Amino acid sequence: MGNQGLLHVTGFLLLGLSQTFPQGSTQGASGFGSRNCTKTLGREFITSFMENWIPGQYSSFQVQITSYSASTSVSVSVGSFEKNVSVDQGEVVQVVLPRTVEIVGSKTFSNTVRIKADKDITAMSLSYKGLSTETAMLFPVPVLGNEYYIVTPSSSAGDPEFSIMAHREPSTVEIHVKGQVTYQGSPYCEGDILNVTLPAFQGVQIQGKGDLSGTRIVSQKTVAVLAGHACTSENTKCHHVFEQLLPVCSWGRTYVIPPVPFQTKHDIVYVSASQPTAVQYWLGRQQSNASLEGGQVLPLEVEPSSPVYITASVGVQVVYYSTGSDMAMYAYDTFLINVPDVASYCLSYSANWQVGFDNYVLLVARSTEAEAVTLDKQPLRNVKWTKVRGSEFSWGVYPLATDLNMHIVSHPSSPFALLSFGTANRDGYGTLGACGESEYKFYCC
Ligand SMILES: *[C@@H]1O[C@H](CO)[C@@H](O)[C@H](O)[C@H]1NC(C)=O
Ligand SMILES: *[C@@H]1O[C@H](CO)[C@@H](O)[C@H](O)[C@H]1NC(C)=O
Ligand SMILES: *[C@@H]1O[C@H](CO)[C@@H](O)[C@H](O)[C@H]1NC(C)=O
Ligand SMILES: *[C@@H]1O[C@H](CO)[C@@H](O)[C@H](O)[C@H]1NC(C)=O
Repeated sequence: MGNQGLLHVTGFLLLGLSQTFPQGSTQGASGFGSRNCTKTLGREFITSFMENWIPGQYSSFQVQITSYSASTSVSVSVGSFEKNVSVDQGEVVQVVLPRTVEIVGSKTFSNTVRIKADKDITAMSLSYKGLSTETAMLFPVPVLGNEYYIVTPSSSAGDPEFSIMAHREPSTVEIHVKGQVTYQGSPYCEGDILNVTLPAFQGVQIQGKGDLSGTRIVSQKTVAVLAGHACTSENTKCHHVFEQLLPVCSWGRTYVIPPVPFQTKHDIVYVSASQPTAVQYWLGRQQSNASLEGGQVLPLEVEPSSPVYITASVGVQVVYYSTGSDMAMYAYDTFLINVPDVASYCLSYSANWQVGFDNYVLLVARSTEAEAVTLDKQPLRNVKWTKVRGSEFSWGVYPLATDLNMHIVSHPSSPFALLSFGTANRDGYGTLGACGESEYKFYCC
């Protein structure tokens, strides 16, 4: 049914109640030698809205801002559009952008969306066209880097796509193509290097055919990169998916991937390597090893209700592709989640939900600490924690009530992971959780 409720929003909508975040403890839990927390918190973000293939007049492109301190001033601008909003602690404010923000085709663009705040915020983008909704948690400017590896779902139909945006400093960008892409009407094939020069706050969107995974982006100055698919389908109808990617320098070595528990077929976890990498992984009970080359992407088939645990000799990128599924009530569509590594787990997340969806959080916590996870300061009831083979972690899923506009999920001392997703009839969305802990704000690139 989509989130038609959002279409009535013309300016912005105030959601949420005031809730405070617990002070982070610098102790953390044992075993967290390097805590590189909260890549999501910051004061400046840039993003773009890639092509959402679904035709039709109903669309909504928006950013949802969460604030962690009183009366935060936030400005969202693109082209001649600018909206200033004030966001209070624990509030989510939704800013709807002009429809012209969507980039259609393979080309350079000046429609880069800029978000600036006077205090720390987290920001999420949402792209909606009839029955095709997707969300992406944004990484702030200090997290941006110079080297990325694209990952796109390997759907046979439709256009895989990615977007590269320059920040304040103009940048040349080299795109080392995997698969086949088109740019300004010309084809580029596997092994070709496509060079693009981006003026400040301009971007390039590249679309192709097949699988563009493993395409390497190297830029002179830091850039933001999104990757996804205009319209991917596996088990259900076609649906737009995307996430913002992290640069190679902030990839992690240990990942726990909880499964979307309604899937009766196979979801896919993509593991990207940037250099020769030894990977050990557990698919449920099955342990295997792989050696990857730089630019190689290992697709792992997720068994129904079975988590995946990955450790690597050097940093890898892990992206979860939910392929959609038929449930008893309805069939939900594809979505993409950029999975956080264990070293970036956080003590507190703000979990918001989308109108018109059944909304869930997937949680990963240390098995010995899982019972202490709280929701809005109350013990989290009715979560069945299941151990993840090979690791010290357990996973669980929790349906978010839509009584409060935003929920806070916390642990007093042991960092954990939170992923958000939602299902609806012929629709779906997913992204990583918003960590609002400033204590661990750390940028590596
Ligand atoms: C964060 O990660 C970087 C790069 O992986 C590492 O050099 C640094 O020591 C880590 N910082 C903390 C606080 O753990
Ligand atoms: C938004 O705020 C900025 C900085 O305070 C100001 O320069 C700008 O004119 C404001 N824009 C609008 C549309 O109010
Ligand atoms: C693209 O840049 C690379 C490295 O800077 C260079 O070797 C190559 O010749 C350039 N290609 C084109 C078509 O300009
Ligand atoms: C994978 O590698 C680890 C470490 O070298 C080893 O202990 C394990 O037996 C290997 N597993 C398989 C299935 O070969």
